[in-house]
Amino acid sequence: MATLEELLRDRLASAFEAVAGAPADPSVRRSQHADFQADGALALARKLGRKPRDIAVDVVAAARLDDLCAEVTISGPGFINLTVAGDTIGSLLAVMNRDERLGVARVAAPDTVVVDYSAPNVAKEMHVGHLRSTVIGDAVVRLLEWLGHRVTKANHLGDWGTPFGMLIEHLLDIGETEAAHELSLGDLNGFYRAARAKFDADDAFKERARLRVVALQSGDEQTRRLWRLLVDESEKYFLAVYERLDVCLTEKDFFGESFYNDMLTPVVEELDRLGLLRESDGAAVVFPDGFTNREGDPLPIIVRKRDGGFGYGATDLAAIRYRTQELAANRLLYVIGLPQRQHLEMVYEVAREAGWLRAPARAQHIGFGSVLGSDGKIFRSRAGDTIKLVDLVDEAVARAAALIEEKNPELDEAARAEVARLVGVGAIKYADLSNDRTRDYVFDWKRMLSFDGNTAPYLQYARARILSIFRRGGVTPARDLATITVAEPAERTLAIELLAFPGVVTEVAESLDFHRLANYLYGVATAFTAFYEKCPVLKAAGAERESRLALSDLTARVLGTGLGLLGIGAPDRM
Ligand code: ARG
Repeated sequence: MATLEELLRDRLASAFEAVAGAPADPSVRRSQHADFQADGALALARKLGRKPRDIAVDVVAAARLDDLCAEVTISGPGFINLTVAGDTIGSLLAVMNRDERLGVARVAAPDTVVVDYSAPNVAKEMHVGHLRSTVIGDAVVRLLEWLGHRVTKANHLGDWGTPFGMLIEHLLDIGETEAAHELSLGDLNGFYRAARAKFDADDAFKERARLRVVALQSGDEQTRRLWRLLVDESEKYFLAVYERLDVCLTEKDFFGESFYNDMLTPVVEELDRLGLLRESDGAAVVFPDGFTNREGDPLPIIVRKRDGGFGYGATDLAAIRYRTQELAANRLLYVIGLPQRQHLEMVYEVAREAGWLRAPARAQHIGFGSVLGSDGKIFRSRAGDTIKLVDLVDEAVARAAALIEEKNPELDEAARAEVARLVGVGAIKYADLSNDRTRDYVFDWKRMLSFDGNTAPYLQYARARILSIFRRGGVTPARDLATITVAEPAERTLAIELLAFPGVVTEVAESLDFHRLANYLYGVATAFTAFYEKCPVLKAAGAERESRLALSDLTARVLGTGLGLLGIGAPDRM
């Protein structure tokens, strides 16, 4: 469904083109002076050497707008102010109201997308960096799947490498049963630290660990079995965390680093054949074009280390080749912290030089900043440890339960537990997604769980309150109205806000800047509050009542759908 903004832009674009003699951006946006404003005449004035106001007059004369707008005026140096006709809004809203997908069509040409996200490390606790990757990546998956793209979730688990030597030796020391027990409890850091401590203190242990790495790499069966045990136990634990967090990752989505093992040698051979491989200090490396260090020397991406082992970079190269060639992906998304930007850019560049990443296929880094504590430093527990994600979720849910109990003591025990879960988990996710992902943000319980402001509980509550209007009135709003009447200013504002939904979704599907969707939902909820204060719904009569019920219903659906795309559930009562 074309949005109001698109309709206006299209009409104005033809007029601008006629006046300018070449395509020109009308630059339409929401405005406080009218419904929309187009200030494209200002940019054009410089190019044409004419007064912007004269251009605006010509554009308005050339534009066919009378079937869409009730009023078109020119103000200031040459702004075109557009007031949309109530009928236009009403009939567009009716179309949206009839559509289960709220005007958001499935894409005609689906992309084949791989989303690389979450990617915790075996036998290590998931830290808050993994929280961001998991929450953002999951929103990416939900949004793109909803739009009809083919999405592969690639959980690039850190399940390979030299630390496994010491981890397996430690496992043997304490026995398999005890190891499985510790890991299943989720004491991943404890296990890792114990192994590390022995490794650092005990030379004999260190030697055993070294030999164990060799055995693992050469495929020794017993070693492989023990490695698998470590991986399985960790995977089980991660899956439990995903479930707690309402994240769609399942056991089918683990494509750990080890998955690419057999592809590493062929990758090196291919790079060699292509003439891209160099030797540097005994290691096999590639110097991608355009990357230098501070001294201006070319920067290598290490493919095979001096000891013959493969590194993180080699695995990422094998993965990108696999994703474009075997999975035929044309959009590769990497939901990884910003510190890995350069590494990823280098991987993309090598892949381009090797012919593994060719337009129209493209790779995008969905980078993100850090989560900070109230002290402005990386968020940690008071004792300075990394914070376990499960502990965060538990605390969020407990805090939410207390709030719900206070707000709605009538809710029965089971309902309260479910609402607390949705509100607690939603608060954590929303606090993350509503911030510009490229920035750091401060983890703040009070703020994220507040029922006021741009938070999950506020939006969830706004939706539940609308549903309670229907319950109170014993009504089911009609979804097949021929038109929806909008007359009051508050009604118009809400209506125009709702009509922007498809445009916002489409824009976010490209930028994957979820704070834009979050801010939009917040705008819808506040527009609804203003509408509800000014415009009686249940007390209205006839067509006005029907229309206002439909507006309320659309608001609830936009909020519910929008939150759902962010991976946040919304309880019907709270
Ligand atoms: N396991 C890595 C970490 O914990 C993240 C992996 C990201 N994905 C990738 N394809 N490199 O930092």
